[in-house]
Amino acid sequence: MQRVLSGVQPSGSLHLGNLVGAIENFVRLQDQYQGFYMIVDWHALTSKFDRSEEIGPAIHEVAATFLAAGLDPERATLFVQSQVKEHAELHLLFSMITPLSWVERVPTYKEKLQNSEADLGSYGFLGYPILQAADILIYKAHKVPVGEDQLFHLELTREIARRFHFLYNTEIFPEPQAVLTQVPKVPGLDGRKMSKTYDNGIYLRDTPEQILHKCTREMASDTARVRKSDPGNPEICNVFTFHKLFSNGDTVKLVALECPRAGLGCFDCKKRLAEAITARVEPLRVKIEDNLAHPERLDEILRVGADRARAAAQVTMAEVREAMKLPKS
Ligand code: TRP
Ligand code: SF4
Repeated sequence: MQRVLSGVQPSGSLHLGNLVGAIENFVRLQDQYQGFYMIVDWHALTSKFDRSEEIGPAIHEVAATFLAAGLDPERATLFVQSQVKEHAELHLLFSMITPLSWVERVPTYKEKLQNSEADLGSYGFLGYPILQAADILIYKAHKVPVGEDQLFHLELTREIARRFHFLYNTEIFPEPQAVLTQVPKVPGLDGRKMSKTYDNGIYLRDTPEQILHKCTREMASDTARVRKSDPGNPEICNVFTFHKLFSNGDTVKLVALECPRAGLGCFDCKKRLAEAITARVEPLRVKIEDNLAHPERLDEILRVGADRARAAAQVTMAEVREAMKLPKS
């Protein structure tokens, strides 16, 4: 069975965009592939080194959410990056063979360096994509489900693999391919991409009341429609985009028909949306809270996952040391 691998930063609560864009994809892929899902706490440290105490609780939150969404720890391996020290060793070895110019030209690097509030002028942050390459190659992953923003990191990963093969006359790493999600991007309440940074999200731990409030009071709609008697235009309305993602076909048809002829008010339209989103999120929220109430259970699942991941990583590291003619460990 081929391997699929992805990494998620432990950065607190996950939202609808994460669910539809990433988590549901991971759950689907666990049937066809041997899955490795990693919570990348070392990557989080590149920007949170001065708030490292926030990472532990965020790890539990990600684990609780993945399990609630249906990730099966019997089939897929869910683990924390820092519990498999082999990632650090491979990162170090890769950092010896990766030209500085390769990491300096990562498109997001300079931009993040300049625009982020965090101080990203560290050696560790420059090496972020090298650590990611180690994460992927150490499991010999074939498929890597990620967002489009990660495509360059994957390209760099393949280049590092090729350079390793060339330098040490070996072929140990398969070339990993990105798997992009088919689902369109979830907008935020304000119509921009849903993102923690913009504070425009509906979170998977939001209660039905919070979801109702966000949909009816905070979500942007067709601004040209002021009165209920004005016709609206669903095609330019953010609420309709949400309906298409989360409501059933009948509701979508109803809105498409009634909104332009002022047969449906925006408040009712948004209320229906809140109901559809709640139907999707509420069962998940209950499971997440239950998982979070049992941290010892989560820790045990992550420990078993790390043991399994480490066993796989150690096989690769033995091959790496041998290819490089380094002493056995
Ligand atoms: N850089 C990825 C992100 O921000 C996280 C990540 C770290 C990752 N290691 C990975 C993703 C390995 C896929 C595979 O989303
Ligand atoms: Fe948007 Fe719905 Fe109002 Fe139409 S009825 S403008 S789709 S919120």
